[in-house]
Amino acid sequence: MNTFIGIDLGTSAAKLLLVTADGRILSSECASYPVRYPADGWSEQDPVDWFDGVIAAAKRLLKGQDKASVRGIGLGGQMHGLVALDKHGKVIRPCILWNDGRTEKETAYLNEEIGKNSLLEMTGNIAYAGFTAPKILWLKKNEPKNFEKIAKILLPKDYIVYRLTGEFSSDYSDFAGTLLLDVEHKCFSEKMCEICGVKKEWLPTLRESYETAGTLVKDIADELGLESDVIVCAGAGDNAAAAVGTGIVRDGDCNVSLGTSGTVFIPRDEFDGGSGDSLHNFCHASGKYHLMGCILSAASCNRWWMEEVLKNSDFNGEQRGAESMLGKNSVYFLPYLMGERSPHNDVNARGAFIGLRPDTSRTAMTLAVLEGVAFALKDCVEAAKKGGAKIESTRICGGGAKSPLWRKIIADVLGVPVEIPKVEEGPAYGGAILAMTAYGAYPTLEAAVAATTSVKETVLPDKRIVEHYKHRYEIYKKLYPALKDVFAKM
Ligand code: XUL
Repeated sequence: MNTFIGIDLGTSAAKLLLVTADGRILSSECASYPVRYPADGWSEQDPVDWFDGVIAAAKRLLKGQDKASVRGIGLGGQMHGLVALDKHGKVIRPCILWNDGRTEKETAYLNEEIGKNSLLEMTGNIAYAGFTAPKILWLKKNEPKNFEKIAKILLPKDYIVYRLTGEFSSDYSDFAGTLLLDVEHKCFSEKMCEICGVKKEWLPTLRESYETAGTLVKDIADELGLESDVIVCAGAGDNAAAAVGTGIVRDGDCNVSLGTSGTVFIPRDEFDGGSGDSLHNFCHASGKYHLMGCILSAASCNRWWMEEVLKNSDFNGEQRGAESMLGKNSVYFLPYLMGERSPHNDVNARGAFIGLRPDTSRTAMTLAVLEGVAFALKDCVEAAKKGGAKIESTRICGGGAKSPLWRKIIADVLGVPVEIPKVEEGPAYGGAILAMTAYGAYPTLEAAVAATTSVKETVLPDKRIVEHYKHRYEIYKKLYPALKDVFAKM
């Protein structure tokens, strides 16, 4: 049977899956690479580390497998990162990542001087520090020599597509997060390109996520032992790819991702500009649109708490005993370790524990971390509801979703059933499904999703705990406004 490689180019690691055309996972591999924090609030990665990691992991993935059956490769990738290439296709400087907060001034210039209304008109979105356009402005001002060398700009997964195929390609779902795309009309915004000093020839060819970008260059095909007619599809931003991988492509569905970032992803058949000043209005990998709230630190808060503070790698063990405290915790945690995107749009926001007492236990603080992330996601859900969205249930994916306790907290805080997909590797599985569609294994993406995704379990909200959390959320909502000015002065 034909097989497909799905790749999630994440922030902490690249995850690779080898998947049959009917959706069975034959093998999986992972390659981690460092994130560098060269200054407070900055975060960077070397695109060459990503590529080397992906190739090394692909070799392990294919070991002992029928390589001749591989027909396509599809990627979902961390969004918004600026990969700038020179005229030889070489990386000019490390990629400035999606959670990097250095562009406070450039973001303020776009939102205040160009103006949020003009941005909404040109692109469907306002500016956030992590988006690509403010990074281009930052580079122009702070690293003019590097800016002068630019011949192409790509997003992280597009760099991998380029190295695999030699093609400069991107897709609408990922490019929507640059602020250079007119999302509604799916074309570059010439005005925004002009404002940012972006030349036409720097831009990649835009495609639907499930369209073919190219075939493997000979060297890579030989190195991996694959046929050189293996296709690589355009791929998608990781959240759109995750939604495909969990089967969330219909209007009004919802997917929550608990990865390094946390997102609430709501597909829309039509462009929905309504919540553009608090949520993202992006294109979906399905060819349609979606609304999204993004919090910058989700599973990364728990990783920080476990690894940096508690120095404990037993994540499940640490959560033991916390379930009996659900809804009763008096400690709050603000998850803004890297500043916050939705809905506060504040690069200065920082994490905080609030409500500590002499009898506060370690378990209460662990629980507060998980609850704080859930409350921050509820902020996004509330913003979507304000814009008219109805969210009656959600699917969930990402590393944090492996915790049964965290899934339950999400169900109780959001007050909706949480569906656990049979395959939880959202973006990598979605990447494989996009590649199946590009290859023609299915007539449409919807058909591919229907044939390969399903739900294995549903976590129902507990009415009593939901009521407790409603009360606690009212208090949570008051904490950021109370601390906002303090954060700005810190
Ligand atoms: C979405 C976003 C994050 C990254 C993480 O807008 O910035 O979810 O894509 O990989």
